[in-house]
Amino acid sequence: MVVMALPVSGAAECSQCHGAWIDKVSSKSTLHTPFISGECSGCHLDHGDSGELVLVLDGTDLCLKCHDNPDREFREHLSGENGCLPCHDPHSSEEKNLTVKSFDELCMLCHGKIVKASYVHQAITYNGCQECHTPHGSALGKMLKEESDQICSGCHSILSEEERPHSALLKRSCASCHDPHSSTQYSLLKQEYRSDLYPGPYEEEKYSLCFSCHDSFLVTGKDLSDTGFRNGSVNLHTVHVLGKVRFTGEGLTVKGKSRSCANCHDPHGSVQAFSLKRYFECTETMCRTITFFPEPDGGRCLTACHERASYTRQGG
Ligand code: HEC
Ligand code: HEC
Ligand code: HEC
Ligand code: HEC
Ligand code: HEC
Ligand code: HEC
Ligand code: HEC
Ligand code: HEC
Ligand code: HEC
Ligand code: HEC
Repeated sequence: MVVMALPVSGAAECSQCHGAWIDKVSSKSTLHTPFISGECSGCHLDHGDSGELVLVLDGTDLCLKCHDNPDREFREHLSGENGCLPCHDPHSSEEKNLTVKSFDELCMLCHGKIVKASYVHQAITYNGCQECHTPHGSALGKMLKEESDQICSGCHSILSEEERPHSALLKRSCASCHDPHSSTQYSLLKQEYRSDLYPGPYEEEKYSLCFSCHDSFLVTGKDLSDTGFRNGSVNLHTVHVLGKVRFTGEGLTVKGKSRSCANCHDPHGSVQAFSLKRYFECTETMCRTITFFPEPDGGRCLTACHERASYTRQGG
């Protein structure tokens, strides 16, 4: 069948037969300007006898004909065949901005699984997806409104000015350790990280988060290159974290407890070198302290855990 597709001049032409439909659609609270001004021809061609939908352009092109403002980032998200229509009604809507559903409901139509765990980030509970995302696209990627870490810092300040950040914060993002949406772990962590001081026998999985970037040999390795935390060839990470043996001042070895990284390190940073915590094991009234003195070939540690201890990588 040949479709007689001719340009149309205005709503009057269409309302002869579609008057009831136009009345119904016009009763909604948000009306698209070219629709209400009768500019049906901005989008439609005359369908002649076919009674079929015939548009002047397909997909995204139809809308970008009038909305191709270079300041707007309409590019990357859903630029497929259906163009803007999964989210926008071309004529009218009960939502502002002609969306077919509210902002969040729209996103959840297709991304329902992004909030997969029961522990949900309160940033989402409060203000939904639009707190961090634009609906259309962003030069920053992932449709983010701002640089990822700037978004987080807008609500969380995790380090004071004196504290030096763990290099992960400088070289990677908050999102490399935290899921911005939800998690099965506490603190929205992407992987397991046991921060209780004595989490039972050492298992690599208990610190999966750290070992997603660091080699677990720093704890279990026997090579000199495995860690800088050693006295000669004795790996002091092994001594503290594995906990099979413990060195006392007299050089005796006894069975000891397995300690978590959190006894010594802060995952965000610290006033001391190597992200070493100043305080740990805090009660309401006091904390135990670690005072670390870095030295060219090792360090000295002053803590309530043991007498002043020092190590040199040369050994001795
Ligand atoms: C002479 C009557 C008549 C006129 C004038 C007319 N239409 Fe139609 N139109 C129909 C009929 C009949 C159908 C097929 C039955 C239906 O779906 O309502 C139809 C179907 C359509 C459809 C497809 C509906 C669907 O559900 O797929 C669109 C879109 C449409 N018309 C738009 C227009 C526009 C825009 C104008 C003005 C340029 C217009 N029509 C003018 C009678 C008309
Ligand atoms: C901004 C572009 C645009 C304008 C302006 C516009 N339409 Fe549409 N119209 C569309 C698109 C796109 C569809 C197909 C919607 C879909 O597939 O969900 C459509 C669908 C329709 C349909 C089919 C029924 C429906 O609800 O989908 C009718 C009838 C129709 N338009 C009539 C009109 C009339 C009459 C006017 C002018 C008063 C008009 N349109 C103005 C883009 C437009
Ligand atoms: C013929 C030109 C034209 C076409 C084609 C067109 N628009 Fe529009 N649109 C306008 C005008 C004019 C306005 C009102 C001024 C503005 O906001 O830029 C507008 C406004 C809008 C708004 C803001 C509405 C509000 O109330 O805040 C949205 C959303 C929108 N259009 C989406 C679309 C979508 C989706 C399409 C494709 C289906 C489309 N437009 C196609 C001309 C057009
Ligand atoms: C994933 C859903 C989605 C898609 C796809 C989408 N939009 Fe939107 N659009 C929205 C939402 C949600 C808003 C409201 C934004 C807000 O409230 O800040 C919006 C707002 C708008 C606005 C008004 C505000 C502004 O930015 O000027 C226009 C115009 C618009 N969209 C046009 C388009 C066009 C054109 C396309 C296709 C190229 C498109 N949209 C595709 C969801 C979408
Ligand atoms: C109709 C389904 C649909 C809706 C509705 C939808 N999306 Fe998407 N989204 C997709 C698909 C498919 C992809 C992957 C392909 C692509 O990037 O276009 C995607 C990709 C994304 C991405 C990843 C982009 C990247 O750079 O990797 C983000 C972020 C996103 N969507 C956020 C949103 C937000 C926020 C909303 C609500 C405003 C939304 N989406 C609504 C289907 C949808
Ligand atoms: C607190 C800020 C924030 C909120 C609120 C938020 N997101 Fe995100 N989202 C992000 C960040 C940051 C990324 C990029 C993560 C990365 O780089 O690994 C992202 C990525 C995504 C992606 C891409 C996933 C991927 O693996 O590439 C989708 C889809 C997405 N978000 C959808 C949503 C939806 C849907 C909502 C609302 C339910 C939402 N987001 C709410 C910050 C947020
Ligand atoms: C709009 C403000 C807002 C933004 C933006 C935001 N958050 Fe949150 N976040 C909150 C609120 C409110 C809570 C719940 C209260 C709390 O624990 O501080 C929370 C909780 C958290 C928690 C869990 C705290 C705990 O102990 O359970 C983490 C981790 C977190 N956010 C990380 C991030 C990251 C990473 C980003 C950037 C992708 C981010 N937040 C962006 C408001 C925000
Ligand atoms: C190297 C991984 C890592 C990076 C990168 C990281 N975090 Fe964390 N974050 C953690 C861990 C682990 C915890 C849990 C700490 C604990 O319980 O001792 C945590 C806890 C939190 C908490 C809740 C407890 C608190 O300290 O307030 C917030 C909020 C938080 N992080 C925000 C952020 C923000 C914002 C960024 C980026 C500026 C960021 N994190 C970067 C690993 C990281
Ligand atoms: C997203 C990657 C990433 C994760 C996850 C991560 N780190 Fe790091 N960390 C780095 C980078 C990058 C450096 C800089 C040295 C390097 O390249 O190995 C670093 C260095 C360190 C240093 C040396 C001091 C410094 O800040 O340069 C310590 C201590 C440290 N990390 C502890 C941890 C602990 C404890 C965890 C688990 C809570 C952890 N890291 C998780 C990326 C990460
Ligand atoms: C008893 C305190 C203590 C514990 C527990 C501890 N560390 Fe360390 N760590 C240190 C000290 C001290 C250094 C600095 C070594 C030096 O002088 O180079 C260090 C250095 C590091 C470095 C820098 C690279 C290296 O190996 O020298 C990383 C990464 C690191 N630790 C990760 C971890 C992780 C992951 C855990 C838990 C599995 C952990 N640490 C447990 C005290 C500790």
